[in-house]
Amino acid sequence: MDYKTILEEEISLDPDDWEDVKDLGQRMVGDMVDYLRFISNEPVWRKPGAEMKEFLTRHLNDQGQDLETIYHQFKQHILPFPKGNIHPRFWSWVQGTGSLTAVFADMLASTMNSNVAIGVHAALYVEGQVIGWCKSMLGYAPESSGILLSGGSMANITGLIVARNNFDQRIRKEGIQVIGKPMIFYASEATHSCQQGAAEVMGLGSNALRRVPVDENYKMRIEVLKEMIKADLSAGLAPFAVVANVGTVNTGAIDPLEEIEKICLEFKLWFHVDGAFGALAKLIPEYEAQLKFIENADSLAFDLHKWMYLPYEIGCLLVKDKTKHRLSFAQQPEYLISHERGLPAGPDPINNYGMELSRGFKALKAWFCFQEHGLEKYRRLIRQNIAQCKYLEAAILASPSLELMAPVELNIVCFRYTIPGMDPEDLNVLNKEILMRLHEQAVATPSYTFIKNNYTIRVANVNHRSKKTDFDALVAGVIRIGDQLRSER
Ligand SMILES: Cc1ncc(COP(=O)(O)O)c(C=O)c1O
Repeated sequence: MDYKTILEEEISLDPDDWEDVKDLGQRMVGDMVDYLRFISNEPVWRKPGAEMKEFLTRHLNDQGQDLETIYHQFKQHILPFPKGNIHPRFWSWVQGTGSLTAVFADMLASTMNSNVAIGVHAALYVEGQVIGWCKSMLGYAPESSGILLSGGSMANITGLIVARNNFDQRIRKEGIQVIGKPMIFYASEATHSCQQGAAEVMGLGSNALRRVPVDENYKMRIEVLKEMIKADLSAGLAPFAVVANVGTVNTGAIDPLEEIEKICLEFKLWFHVDGAFGALAKLIPEYEAQLKFIENADSLAFDLHKWMYLPYEIGCLLVKDKTKHRLSFAQQPEYLISHERGLPAGPDPINNYGMELSRGFKALKAWFCFQEHGLEKYRRLIRQNIAQCKYLEAAILASPSLELMAPVELNIVCFRYTIPGMDPEDLNVLNKEILMRLHEQAVATPSYTFIKNNYTIRVANVNHRSKKTDFDALVAGVIRIGDQLRSER
């Protein structure tokens, strides 16, 4: 087809028959509402079979297909095999539930398809408002800056880039070699792997992350932190930041924030908090005093897809000093210069506060859900998740077949099936087998970790659909499978 003909027969991706598509769209909405409504009748996990895998290796046709057929394929091959984090018996890793309202909000956001970086349009203001709500609910300084990111990993890395770039303003231009000595930052041994990722992508190398030993409650040992900083200074290195954990990924431990802040002040280090899920515990009175110190952090990373129950992806970084945040990323290429009027006359472009230029409208789901449910409901749900963990802890302590593996400080419970006198390696193998059978039999999907080299079943509860009875089913399932394996030995 030549260009002239193409212009005479212009096409687009819009439907030929809008009414037809509207009917299908309404059916999709109805199906998804029912899917979530009856999700507890489904197994928590269903292993995808060969048919699905084979189907998902098919080549893409040159010619398009009927939308109805594609929707049918989705219902047959994709929808029956979710990860499970929408189900009341899912407690793996730290993965949130999502919610129905957010499904609608994501559809509305996709319809608007706003690229949320620069310009005068509503999405930029919505993101500003959501960040403002986050600041106020966590008691963080109203004049601070913030950005929504894909999740906790990106929020942590972005915060540490701000810390690194402000250690010496020459770094942005000349690189870290301008410092002339290795830059070092500190986090506890229990910190999340994204901190090592940050060290690597920032060009510092993973040795730059000093792993401070933890105490018996998996909290950073402050006296050791201080000694490590002093030793690094005497060795001529350049310490620049400390990462405090508010909710470690393994056990939910909260580091001693007040002491870490003091040390940061004493040694002029950046005080960064990884509060991926734990920061949200500040919403409830029991944790308010302990978590007050996150208000003083130079930067605070947390997720909204964990304990605020929003669907993937949405994390947030707040930075106390807006100027320092901006200085770390802002650029002024000729095609992104703000104007006095017209579309490019918006607020300060968000790309001045992070690595991404093209960004989706993830703020809209937060905007809808926060308003619909109100903070009081979130407080109650976070409390409910903690209460459920205490309930599970009590059930574990009451059973001679189960052993609690770490203190329950927040919403994470680590335990195992135990047989007195059994070899530790055999216990590891046994508990791993229990976990895999729990999943395969669709009893529940907790995850796993190692505590002091012991394989541990781990429940991380950021699930607004779980009920007390779901935890009863987990305990009964672990004991039943454990007893069965024991009798087969
Ligand atoms: C303590 C902690 N930090 C960081 C992260 C990374 O967050 P994300 O998975 O949203 O990137 C997690 C994830 O579970 C976490 O638990």
